[in-house]
Amino acid sequence: MLKKVRKAVFPVGGLGTRFLPATKAMPKEMLPVVDRPLIQYAVDEAREAGIEEFIFVTGRGKVIIEDHFDRSYELESVLQERGKNDVLDALQDSLPNTGSVAYIRQQEPQGLGHAVWCAKRYVGDEPFAVILADDLILSDKACLAQMMETRDELGGGNILAAMEVPHEHTSRYGIIKPGFDDDKKVEVTHLVEKPNPSEAPSNLAVIGRYILEPAVFGILENQARGAGNEIQLTDALSDMLKSSPFYGLRFEGTRFDCGDKIGFLHANVAFALKRDDTARDFGDIIRSIAADL
Ligand code: UTP
Repeated sequence: MLKKVRKAVFPVGGLGTRFLPATKAMPKEMLPVVDRPLIQYAVDEAREAGIEEFIFVTGRGKVIIEDHFDRSYELESVLQERGKNDVLDALQDSLPNTGSVAYIRQQEPQGLGHAVWCAKRYVGDEPFAVILADDLILSDKACLAQMMETRDELGGGNILAAMEVPHEHTSRYGIIKPGFDDDKKVEVTHLVEKPNPSEAPSNLAVIGRYILEPAVFGILENQARGAGNEIQLTDALSDMLKSSPFYGLRFEGTRFDCGDKIGFLHANVAFALKRDDTARDFGDIIRSIAADL
């Protein structure tokens, strides 16, 4: 029987240099889109996909992420006294169950591959998901839930979220060399980290959602440093392709790179225009700004 994906790893150990000075004393993952931090969207997505255990790979200066996913008794009692029960309920609902969250320190930000490897003992010998909170996805059904369905359909394997990008942007992503392709699922025959457009095998990029078999840990263990002198997850996945099937899923939804200023601003506009409580007033503001451009 296909093993269920019960655990998700959230690598939040990066330095977020593209977002300085905002990220000097505050983790990038706590930047809010409308009124929720990026990491909250990531955890909500995992919960919607049926994840039961949440493993954060953190680093220096990231403790407010731990506080964010903890009870705040002072705040809760003030909300109760003031009769703000709806806010209180929302706060309590946003917390993962007691005992289902673990934090591991990466100690040194040696790259995404290294961050994932740090979760090895907590994940153990079972398939798991990886979610990068700075890749925010606006969709009707959670991207990870779509990937779980694809894994069920295929009867297992490693699943990567995939997205067509402009050809000239291939050097920003891990790029898939496609095999069998039914326009939704695509077999991954090779992966190349950040290729120049002239060398890219396609314009199908991997973005920050993965369902992986635990064999990846054995490969990451001996993974040499790659691009940017970091231990790259894409390099390990590329090695793993020789022994384990990989599929890309062209998910339904829009992805925003919230590790980047423009992507983050775009996400705020898109989410605010989608939400019932902000869409109308914010829409008026956007229209009036656009009229003056
Ligand atoms: P990025 O490539 O966005 O790097 O990492 P970064 O350090 O966060 O940001 P910039 O490029 O300096 O602005 C992609 C994801 O991998 C995590 C990050 O937290 C982010 O979710 N990461 C990266 C780690 O957890 N550890 C690392 O050593 C590197």
